[in-house]
Amino acid sequence: MKQYGFTLEGKHALVCGGSAGIGEASARVMASMGAKITVLARRKDRLTDLLPILEQQGSARALALVADLDDRETLARTLSEHLEQYGPIHIWINNTGGPAPGRLVDATEEDFLKAIGRHLLASQRILGLLLPGMQAEQYGRIINILSTSVRQPIPNLGVSNTIRGAMASWAKTLSLELPPQITINSLLPGFTMTERLVSLAQSRAAAAGVDIATIEDEWIKSIPEGRLGHAEELGAAIAFLASPAASYIRGVCLPVDGGRTSCI
Ligand SMILES: NC(=O)c1ccc[n+]([C@@H]2O[C@H](COP(=O)([O-])OP(=O)(O)OC[C@H]3O[C@@H](n4cnc5c(N)ncnc54)[C@H](OP(=O)(O)O)[C@@H]3O)[C@@H](O)[C@H]2O)c1
Repeated sequence: MKQYGFTLEGKHALVCGGSAGIGEASARVMASMGAKITVLARRKDRLTDLLPILEQQGSARALALVADLDDRETLARTLSEHLEQYGPIHIWINNTGGPAPGRLVDATEEDFLKAIGRHLLASQRILGLLLPGMQAEQYGRIINILSTSVRQPIPNLGVSNTIRGAMASWAKTLSLELPPQITINSLLPGFTMTERLVSLAQSRAAAAGVDIATIEDEWIKSIPEGRLGHAEELGAAIAFLASPAASYIRGVCLPVDGGRTSCI
């Protein structure tokens, strides 16, 4: 009988945006499930410090790939070399830094080009590099880290709201096209305590002329669980979607937001 368990032994996960926040937390949880992990980000020192921690937590092997998702040519070259040296990827956590905050009416074409490059075009490029390996291995899990703004736009995140919608559509379309055993799903984080949330709170506070605590209180009031999320809680949901246990979940957007999103 086929195994639909929670182990990731024998699987190799690529965690983009793996040096901090939700990406790092997902790497830690998948390490504890026995996966080999490659963490990708720009900050080499953060990645290097993380590798022994991942191996201590149970990773079969932890590797760093220093790359900038804004530079697709270099990214493609270094990722191809990495695959040649360390073997195919079974699990891809498609994650990166979110676009700068601001109102949509103030956004420039440059802001959009940057977001489209980092999110959509980098994703398409990485997909082309990883798909042959997933097909050969007969196992693929692609998990996009988006935002609840896919369902409900968030004020002062004009470019981000727009690009998340495009990415959700990209993922849903792929879920119809990818072969069996290669699934794609999107995770929609709510307000989660990471570097990103601190910078969003600072921007909202400055725009509203209030302090950061006021913004956080306002956010917490909108969350039925009554608190901000921990990155590890997102990491656990990501690791589940990456596991054989999630084999029949395909093309969904899963909010992990303490119940904040009010639509069904
Ligand atoms: N936290 C929240 O409340 C929340 C809510 C909804 C949606 N989200 C979204 O979920 C995603 C992850 O959020 P987070 O809070 O974990 O963000 P974060 O703490 O800012 O971490 C972002 C990660 O992406 C990496 N990164 C950023 N730009 C990169 C680039 N050009 N190339 C390669 N790596 C890059 C960063 O590492 P380096 O700096 O080392 O490259 C870091 O590892 C983001 O898209 C965010 O907007 C977050």
